[in-house]
Amino acid sequence: MGWSSWNQFGVEINEKLIIETIDAMVSNGMRDAGYIYVNLDDGWQQDKGKRQNKALDYDKEKFPRGITFLSEYAHKNGMKLGIYSGPGETTCAGFSGSLGYEKQDADMFASWNVDHLKYDSCCSHKDASKQELKEIFYKMSKPLIDNPKDIVLHACHCGWEDIWEWAGDIGANHWRIGQDISDDFDYSENREDYYFDVLDMLDRGDGLEEFNKPGQWNDFDMLVVGLNGESKELVGAGASNIEYRAHFSLWSILATPLLTGTDVRNLDAYTLETLTNKEVIALNQDPLGKQAKTVKKTGKIHVLAKPMSDGSWAVAMLNRGSETQKISIDWKQDLGLDWDEVHVRDLWKHKDMGSFSTNYDDEVISHQAVVLRIYPGK
Ligand code: GLA
Repeated sequence: MGWSSWNQFGVEINEKLIIETIDAMVSNGMRDAGYIYVNLDDGWQQDKGKRQNKALDYDKEKFPRGITFLSEYAHKNGMKLGIYSGPGETTCAGFSGSLGYEKQDADMFASWNVDHLKYDSCCSHKDASKQELKEIFYKMSKPLIDNPKDIVLHACHCGWEDIWEWAGDIGANHWRIGQDISDDFDYSENREDYYFDVLDMLDRGDGLEEFNKPGQWNDFDMLVVGLNGESKELVGAGASNIEYRAHFSLWSILATPLLTGTDVRNLDAYTLETLTNKEVIALNQDPLGKQAKTVKKTGKIHVLAKPMSDGSWAVAMLNRGSETQKISIDWKQDLGLDWDEVHVRDLWKHKDMGSFSTNYDDEVISHQAVVLRIYPGK
């Protein structure tokens, strides 16, 4: 869990923004809710274009005191710092990449004491085989593994060549399952023939449950909660509070990285409440690390569920349609649970809803997700 600079700010990042972001996450409760990583995405680098036999360097105007200063600042505040590069001659925004300099860069990131690396291919190497791709990512993964500093590796490759099947084997900790998310809940097409909205991304990850496990995560992309169509970089018209809350509920129950992409210095009360609902976050952070499965999909009704480490189950009842619908979960039939009595808790209402013998239902408004935790017994 953490924050990443891209979705809201694009390459317009600097030291002041990162420090203010850390301070805000400490004071608004996000850090204590679990958001620990503060990740610089593309745009921290000094040079554009092909590497000229030089070390990668940070932009001296944007980051006058350097990256180590920021990692120290993050650590002092109980947080971690992430950085960004890629296996090309250039990164997606045209800055110099790590191709041919992987070990040198890995060692330098470690010497800067960073804790996370997003290593982004920008959907390149279209014709490369799985084996070639493995080698490309392993060139960066190996020196990171060899280095005594622990660095989480995000292998970002647009979900191509079934990356979920092999990225964990070469030491990646999470991998994007698709192209970039757009700031839309349910846009009719793929914007610019490229972007996925929230529901597209949800569907793209359906069936990938077996590849999600502690330390190896399917990454449904950074959250768009709270962007409200105002991103400097992402396309999209924004979504309603209800839709952003449904998006957050889904990403939580899917146990995918929760990387907030919005400006956390100015969050309105509703957005902050969405991002810091500890009962919903607990689904994301559960030690079993299970990605919820679709257990029912009829018309516009979509129900996902997963087992939790304490023996309870988490359930999300999503209404994908435009009309209010009654959605029901039947634990014997839908979840195969032999429970004669079930205690239901609603995680957005923060309320125990009582005990039920066969099923529980609720009125779910358009694009809302009702999130439940169900326990056997009273
Ligand atoms: C790609 C990635 C984004 C972001 C940009 C940076 O588009 O998918 O998440 O990192 O590159 O240029």
